[in-house]
Amino acid sequence: MPAPPPDARQLRGEVVRVDPCGDDGAILVVRPEVELPPIRASRFFMLKRTDRQSPLIPRPFSIYRHRDGCLEFLIKVMGQGTRALAECRPGQELSLVGPLGNGWPTLDADGPPWVFLGGGVGAAPFPMAIEQALTGMDGRAPVPPESICYLFGAATGGLLYDLETVSDLGVRVLAATDDGSLGFHGNVLQLLEKLWDEGELPREVRVLACGPDPMLEAVERMAREKDLACWLSLETLMGCGVGICNGCPVPTRPEGPLGAWPNAKCCVEGPVFSTDAITLHEPETHVPSKGRSGN
Ligand SMILES: Cc1cc2nc3c(=O)[nH]c(=O)nc-3n(C[C@H](O)[C@H](O)[C@H](O)COP(=O)(O)OP(=O)(O)OC[C@H]3O[C@@H](n4cnc5c(N)ncnc54)[C@H](O)[C@@H]3O)c2cc1C
Ligand code: FES
Repeated sequence: MPAPPPDARQLRGEVVRVDPCGDDGAILVVRPEVELPPIRASRFFMLKRTDRQSPLIPRPFSIYRHRDGCLEFLIKVMGQGTRALAECRPGQELSLVGPLGNGWPTLDADGPPWVFLGGGVGAAPFPMAIEQALTGMDGRAPVPPESICYLFGAATGGLLYDLETVSDLGVRVLAATDDGSLGFHGNVLQLLEKLWDEGELPREVRVLACGPDPMLEAVERMAREKDLACWLSLETLMGCGVGICNGCPVPTRPEGPLGAWPNAKCCVEGPVFSTDAITLHEPETHVPSKGRSGN
């Protein structure tokens, strides 16, 4: 059975600051009770307040930044859980479980360029990914800035969270909005097509994407049609976050590396999956033969 990562733990933390961000978001700065070692981008924590203002079940959030001993989370207010976090005052105690999940693969400096596609609050796992790629991880050489292109899209300019900071990360960052209020008028995939058509990017790229389900479905379809290496970071609904409740199933591709079982658990086998391993479209027919991978 896939298990939670060995470095995951339950912690208390104190809110240092909550900075409003965009039309409906906030950046929550939290100092955990112990200092944590560097964490791979696109891993996540389950968060809730300890004063009973949060729902009983904690909610999952990607690590937005990790600096000066603090974890930062970019929070889009959706319902009770996110509102309770966005309304925290400095000094508020939080319960944190993490770091959970796998995170983005280690990016290498050789080969086709990397294209990052962030949609709305799906931008959360990218700033750290860019920093980690530019400095190198796991003994890999740093990825040169010109090998990373980050396309950040949202419905409107007010939902391009923290765009100014992101634009200063040292890689090419292009914005896209559905209503044309900021940057390219259209979505990130239309922007990518435009860059391809104009010869601004080679046709062969490697893709990391995080965003709303319809966007990720379209990214998966594009990656398959164009035979691109592609990883998706999923924001599936979660219950426990540690592999117990079966609340986060993701259909696997029968011929893929997780195909021995019809579903993967997003919390412990993800949230990052290669499009070789899963499908967000119609589940394909499974003929389970061997034991679950990882058994
Ligand atoms: C691995 C992971 C990382 C995440 N990282 C972030 C992050 O960095 N920042 C952030 O703001 N959010 C992130 N999310 C999504 C976040 O967990 C949800 O928005 C949150 O759980 C909603 O809780 P709530 O109590 O505010 O809303 P609820 O009351 O639970 O739901 C309110 C409404 O939002 C819908 N909703 C809830 N969760 C989601 C979701 N995941 N996708 C689409 N609709 C949803 C519900 O169906 C409902 O209509 C992440 C999710 C996962 C699984
Ligand atoms: S959220 Fe409980 S098994 Fe994944």
